[in-house]
Amino acid sequence: MFVKIERNYDAMSLKAAQIVAEVVRAKPNAVLGLATGSTPVGMYQALIRIAKDEGLDFSQVTTFNLDEYEGLSAGHPQSYHAFMWENLFEGLGLREEQTNLLDGMAKDLAAECSEFEEKIRDAGGIDIQVLGIGGDGHIAFNEPGSSLAGRTTVVALHPQTIADNARFFDNEKEVPRRALSMGIGTILDARSCLILAGGKGKAKPWAKMIEGPMCSQVPASALQMHPWVIAISDKAAASKLSNRKYYKHVDRERADQPVLPPWIEQPQLDPRRQAFAKV
Ligand code: PGA
Repeated sequence: MFVKIERNYDAMSLKAAQIVAEVVRAKPNAVLGLATGSTPVGMYQALIRIAKDEGLDFSQVTTFNLDEYEGLSAGHPQSYHAFMWENLFEGLGLREEQTNLLDGMAKDLAAECSEFEEKIRDAGGIDIQVLGIGGDGHIAFNEPGSSLAGRTTVVALHPQTIADNARFFDNEKEVPRRALSMGIGTILDARSCLILAGGKGKAKPWAKMIEGPMCSQVPASALQMHPWVIAISDKAAASKLSNRKYYKHVDRERADQPVLPPWIEQPQLDPRRQAFAKV
């Protein structure tokens, strides 16, 4: 895991946006895995700015989102569909057919989940997966106890997640109790991961993810098994890391090294390509 500590939320957001932009520069038809929540909003704003300033072309990218609430239509203002159009897709001028989000209103939710997995495979796999971390250590909606090898499925939200997300709804009762979520196994199949955390409320799960033992009680800790994870936080979220100095040292030493793994640009090097072979 490459641990980066930025001075504040804006610096973290800019750094993260530069990394996603780098993926699109290297591979104009990149497959981007995206996240919702408060954390990536600044990154999305910075990415829209970079796209406009540089004329970076997103017309060939494909996107997949981590999760969606069950029972919310795409048009519901709190749906993750709505969030993504408002915070990123519109600004980048994406076409609807470039974007993939789970349908929380699907009649057959299990089929929706397996079709989503198939779509990711058909797109050639995700090049970079953007992630946030929940106060309870979740990634996507994989709550404590989730299988570290899990695939996209219907999940029950943890009471802490419901309470955390109540701020987006009129009251806590309106927060859906279940969601559709990429599994941790699905996330680990991405060629690279970019996880972000800001604020002192994330300091505990962030430290557990990076320095704690890997265990299903801290789903984000599964990222320790991934060969290319960039973990960027502000100072507050990094405040409980015991090896902060060392991470800064490594970051400086790696300054002349590529930000992206070689297997993004050269698919023949992709150690995971077997996973995407059609059966
Ligand atoms: P947040 O959510 O960015 O709104 O803090 C992160 C998450 O729950 O994954």
